[in-house]
Amino acid sequence: MKRAIVILTSLLALQAYGQPRDWENPAVLGIHKLPYHATLQLPSREKECKEIVSLDGQWLFHWSPTPESRPADFYREDYDVSQWGRITVPGNWQTQGYGTPIYTNIEYPFVRNRPSVTTEPPKDWTAYENRNPVGSYVTFVDVTEEMLRQHLILHFGGVHSAMYFWINGRQVGYSQNSMTPAEFDVTKYMRAGKNKLAVEVYRWSDGSYLEDQDMWRLSGIYRPVQLWVRPLVHISDYQVTAVPNDDYSRADVKADISLCNVGNKAVNGLQAVLKINRHNIKTAVKSLSVGDTTTICLHEIIDKPQLWSAEKPCLYPFSLELLDEKGTVIEHFDYHLGVKKVEVVGEVFKINGKNVKLRGVNRHDHHPLTGRYVDDATYEEDIRLMKQANINFLRTSHYPDREYLYELCDRWGLYVMDEANHETHGYGYANEEMGEDLAWQQAHVDRAESLVKRDFNHPCVILWSLGNEGGVGPNIEAMYNKVKALDTTRPPFYDSDRRYSCIWDDSYLYPDDLKKNAQAVTDKPFMMREYAHAMGNSCGNLQEYWDVIYADSSIVGAAIWDWVDQGLLKDGYYAYGGDFGDKPNLDAFCINGLIAPDRKPHPHYYEVQYVYQPLQFLQEGDSLIRIVNRDFFTQIDEYEYYCEVYHNGELVSGELARVNDGRFEIPYPYFPYDDPELILNVYARLKEAKPWAPEGFVIAREQFVLKPHEFWSALGGEDAKAVKSADGAVYTTDNGSVTISPTGALVSWVADGQEMLQSPLEPYFWKPENDNQHAAHFAEVSALWQDAAEKRTVKAVRIEGNQVVVEMSLAIGAELTLTYQMKADGRIKVDMAYKPIATDLPLMPKFGMRMRLPADFTQIRYYGRGPWENYPDRKGSALIGIYETTLKDYETEYIHPQDNGNRSDIRWFEIGKLHIEGLQPLCIRAWDYGEEDLVGVRHPQEIKRGRFVNLNIDLSVHGVGGADTWGKHTLPQYTIPANQPHHYSFILSSR
Ligand code: GAL
Ligand code: MG
Repeated sequence: MKRAIVILTSLLALQAYGQPRDWENPAVLGIHKLPYHATLQLPSREKECKEIVSLDGQWLFHWSPTPESRPADFYREDYDVSQWGRITVPGNWQTQGYGTPIYTNIEYPFVRNRPSVTTEPPKDWTAYENRNPVGSYVTFVDVTEEMLRQHLILHFGGVHSAMYFWINGRQVGYSQNSMTPAEFDVTKYMRAGKNKLAVEVYRWSDGSYLEDQDMWRLSGIYRPVQLWVRPLVHISDYQVTAVPNDDYSRADVKADISLCNVGNKAVNGLQAVLKINRHNIKTAVKSLSVGDTTTICLHEIIDKPQLWSAEKPCLYPFSLELLDEKGTVIEHFDYHLGVKKVEVVGEVFKINGKNVKLRGVNRHDHHPLTGRYVDDATYEEDIRLMKQANINFLRTSHYPDREYLYELCDRWGLYVMDEANHETHGYGYANEEMGEDLAWQQAHVDRAESLVKRDFNHPCVILWSLGNEGGVGPNIEAMYNKVKALDTTRPPFYDSDRRYSCIWDDSYLYPDDLKKNAQAVTDKPFMMREYAHAMGNSCGNLQEYWDVIYADSSIVGAAIWDWVDQGLLKDGYYAYGGDFGDKPNLDAFCINGLIAPDRKPHPHYYEVQYVYQPLQFLQEGDSLIRIVNRDFFTQIDEYEYYCEVYHNGELVSGELARVNDGRFEIPYPYFPYDDPELILNVYARLKEAKPWAPEGFVIAREQFVLKPHEFWSALGGEDAKAVKSADGAVYTTDNGSVTISPTGALVSWVADGQEMLQSPLEPYFWKPENDNQHAAHFAEVSALWQDAAEKRTVKAVRIEGNQVVVEMSLAIGAELTLTYQMKADGRIKVDMAYKPIATDLPLMPKFGMRMRLPADFTQIRYYGRGPWENYPDRKGSALIGIYETTLKDYETEYIHPQDNGNRSDIRWFEIGKLHIEGLQPLCIRAWDYGEEDLVGVRHPQEIKRGRFVNLNIDLSVHGVGGADTWGKHTLPQYTIPANQPHHYSFILSSR
């Protein structure tokens, strides 16, 4: 008998061997998979739905590096799984200690040889040993007799990338297409009591060829699993549209409801009821035969509808019920609808008839601990932070997210571009291989269909995206046609084959090119689906983009790449590509967020908040501020306006403004606060709390310098006397001395018995790169500046009156003059003048000086832009004021260490015992490490800290850049040309 079984199994194996495997066969997308349908119950109310039994929790788990080594018969009831490990479902297995996360962008993590995902890769690739890991999952489900009399559907919210599954030893089905639900009818496999559910998940499948998104490649059952216990006659799907008429006086609500009878007897006298607006709209279904499905349509007219928009997300809650012939409710679902209209009118994109601007961001579903599974609280945090940053548009790059996210966007108000789980970038942007290979057409269409069908009922969706960086050709056309056939109310969008997109996308342009290219396209609206690559210290010149966007009605808007740094928490730090030994990998290229993985905003988050603010404030003459409203569905009187006046950084008045005809008066202060510097801060605050912000939350702000700071021009008071000595020049005062060495550097400064300097104050023109600059080869191009100040020849150290004048020439081809002056009270004035001789010098990373201070100088107080980091091209959000902080908080700790922490427009600055006064605005960076400590460092914990305070005192620094991280530059107006003279001065004193 045993022998017979062995022969039988090997025969089966043999048979399977000759055939393509389902997971390497693009023709097999699913086996026994039920049709896609809309989310039936509002995600936040799933718990109230009697039909849903959650199977989430701890499952038994076994991981195998290859399909061959998997426990092939683990699904059998007699297979002993008692020794297996545990895994949390939903979750990725790589974030729970099994296998290796891989971060790759364009390159597939396996050898590109479609449909094979198991072709031998180079030996050092992760996929060499782990050719196609398999996760085997087991859980047990209790089912009652009562449940068995109904219809049982197993729902997998998302499984990456392909899965087989069995119940009680019998195979039920197969699925791929990893970002939308897969459902199976499991009724006949279940029995009363305990049932064994076995799921076999493959890391890669032919579906992975369509899932080449730039992200961590993670696997497993990462979204919820549910057992639906459904009546034999039930609502299998429904689609609700609510489009307003031409003058918006009425909305025609249409609910198409599919009913099916999966029982074994015909039913009569059913009724479907739509409950909305206190109306019950009913339709009777005379009879439904066994195995039949029918679609009925319920209509309701809403008079004077409140429209849904991201600004005013007015929702109409409704419920759908199915009643049997006795009038008993056999099914009940809750949802909501929004009345809105999306149109493309010539070159203009309109929502509810208005040329709204999409102030957007792209977002990957990412959590530092749970990978691709993002819990509800984190979703809420994300959407709250987006709303608070005045973002009104979210692209779910590059696949559908978990359902709850869409509900939040409906409720809190975000326009959503919902994207199909489709990217084939590994074949090239706009490739023909995948776009034209008809063997892959159905696989493409499947992804469009699953997207639209699942999310149809979410008012937040305004555009269906066919995917990202995919093919061109008939497969895309087929996706496009599918979307058009499924939904006439929201148009398709696509980046790589513009024939199949209602909007022309051209991403990552410079502001000037955005302007030009948008003007050149005349048959469609224009957008940048991605721009302002927010990698590391970035997002410069955001305002320049929006000046262009607001000035051209054909530009729909733009979405920042991207929302959250995709760091995975590992041993207390955020890991990126390569940190798990993953290969191939693209290093830190997944760290591009406006917020850190723990959702802490980066400094550039606040710049987005400022540039995206719906209100603009303009000064009219000397006495008025005018409010400009960028929104369409919100009036300016829905906010209150608060004015603060600062005198030299000290608050002297705060009051609500009285708005008249969109303007209010500037509250100038009286004596003694009426002289410079006088600054007005204006804040628009929420009059009422919103779900995403408390009452009083500042939605928009602006700062006006009413009377600018009067910087010192000369130093009064008695001079200290400069004396030439063997060491150069020396000043002596009552409380100390200053030594200027023959190299021109200020090498010693003793104040009240303490040496203030740990290394000299010297000219210094170098600054480490940020990620944008690295990609643009800034350090290479500007390399001669690295030691430009070091390679100086001192021509003369002269004492003129009581000034010490040091004349030097720089080997790069420039003259530099340093002038020191010391006062008897201990103040030191430093002046640096630069004059180029060469005519082809590359851009200067910064113009200024550097010194190192004792390590305990850690308390900071300054009058300049803050509180967060700001640079010449990213400082609109950082208002001028007096800020107090510590050295630690002055620094921005980027996940990939780089230049950081600058503050601009500094009038005065104190750190430890040092006080600095600018004679013009200064840029200052302060770190507890040196520039050299950033070289070759991949993570913050590797930086050697704490030996000194490194202080750069500059006239200016090269801006952070704002277009992309693959070669584009900082805009010229935010750079420091070296072929022209520069000059600045400041005063040092001790406290
Ligand atoms: C885009 C792409 C994104 C991401 C980005 C670079 O072209 O659509 O998925 O890869 O580049 O971070
Ligand atoms: Mg890509």
